[in-house]
Amino acid sequence: MRVALIGLGGFGAVHLAELDRLAGLGKVDLVGCADTVSPAPAAAEVLERRRSVFHERYEELLEATRPDLVVVATPPHLHAEMAASAMRGGSHVLLEKPPVVDMAEMRALEGLLSETGLSCQVGFQSLGSGALGRLCELRRAGAFGDGLRVSATGHWQRDSGYWQRSPWAGRDTLDGRAVHDGALTNPFAHAVMNCLAVLGWESLDRFEEVVVERFRANPIEVDDTSVLRVRHGTGELVVAVTLCAETIREPVCTVRGTGGSAAWGYTGDEVTLDLGDGGAAVERFSRAGLLDEIVDVLSGEDRELSCPLARTRGFVRLVEAITAAPVHEIASSRIAVAGSRAATSRVVTGVDEMVDAAASRGVLLSELGL
Ligand SMILES: NC(=O)c1ccc[n+]([C@@H]2O[C@H](COP(=O)([O-])OP(=O)(O)OC[C@H]3O[C@@H](n4cnc5c(N)ncnc54)[C@H](O)[C@@H]3O)[C@@H](O)[C@H]2O)c1
Repeated sequence: MRVALIGLGGFGAVHLAELDRLAGLGKVDLVGCADTVSPAPAAAEVLERRRSVFHERYEELLEATRPDLVVVATPPHLHAEMAASAMRGGSHVLLEKPPVVDMAEMRALEGLLSETGLSCQVGFQSLGSGALGRLCELRRAGAFGDGLRVSATGHWQRDSGYWQRSPWAGRDTLDGRAVHDGALTNPFAHAVMNCLAVLGWESLDRFEEVVVERFRANPIEVDDTSVLRVRHGTGELVVAVTLCAETIREPVCTVRGTGGSAAWGYTGDEVTLDLGDGGAAVERFSRAGLLDEIVDVLSGEDRELSCPLARTRGFVRLVEAITAAPVHEIASSRIAVAGSRAATSRVVTGVDEMVDAAASRGVLLSELGL
């Protein structure tokens, strides 16, 4: 299978390493790469070893190589354009998350997929986890009972270096195009997507009630501390996150109902289950790699994509709701600045507790005093 990669820096380096591994197994031929910036020495070494051609313009890469599969690992505002060009040239696509910035772009890509019969997998990698499959199976069997609330919390710290690393970091728009690099739509996009998937809401394109509150402590255009609450039918989804945490903790997706609860630290594949039948039990799962999966599917293996584009409709609908909400400045009296001259972090006093309370009780950050 002839594969090309667009975007070599940042997360593109992870894709390049994976493509190098698959090329070593004889499963793919890395025919070319594109980036507006010259490859770093480690990337240049892989390209040379794999005899992969480097282009500064992605259009030239697609024209020159006509790949079977294109991996797109560029900033979000370029995804729709690049995926559409790849599809028009007859290539399948592995598209990084967030797939697109609004439903108009979603519909355009869906239209191209149905016209061409091509496949598009989106890089929400925890959808390949067996942990998610187990939670969905329990939910469908009614094991969590009634009054289902699926929530996620995230306590990360992102310093000034993070916000300055790329022209699009912390931006809502760049060169007149929507980027939407907010906490809920990019760094914690997985939290939103995973909660949707646990509830089985990922393909919905309308929800009964969506409430969003966005705040910022950093000098950015978007939010770094936010809550999203979605109610639909008898279920509730709450995602409460901060990039200004007092203590860093890996994000957790929690399911609660009258019949029990489960906690999934979704950057891994372990679920702690408490279904009221003799204490909590930990279950461990494996995870399908999204690139391996699409390569296998396109090679005719009997597998299914974990995250086809259509499975991200609910996410993109929520991106629209999230980005329509105003961003409020957090009072400077609540913000502590730590670090050196080279990189400073802003920490919001009391934010860890507020984020946890919002997620576990389904209340908003403003109701908790932010
Ligand atoms: N799945 C995950 O867990 C995960 C993790 C990190 C990032 N991402 C996603 O990956 C994407 C890239 O994020 P990043 O943090 O690596 O960004 P980045 O800015 O660090 O890297 C993007 C790369 O794309 C290149 N690029 C920019 N414009 C280009 C163009 N017109 N043509 C070709 N190359 C171009 C840049 O030069 C850079 O090398 C984003 O959508 C991000 O959300 C996903």
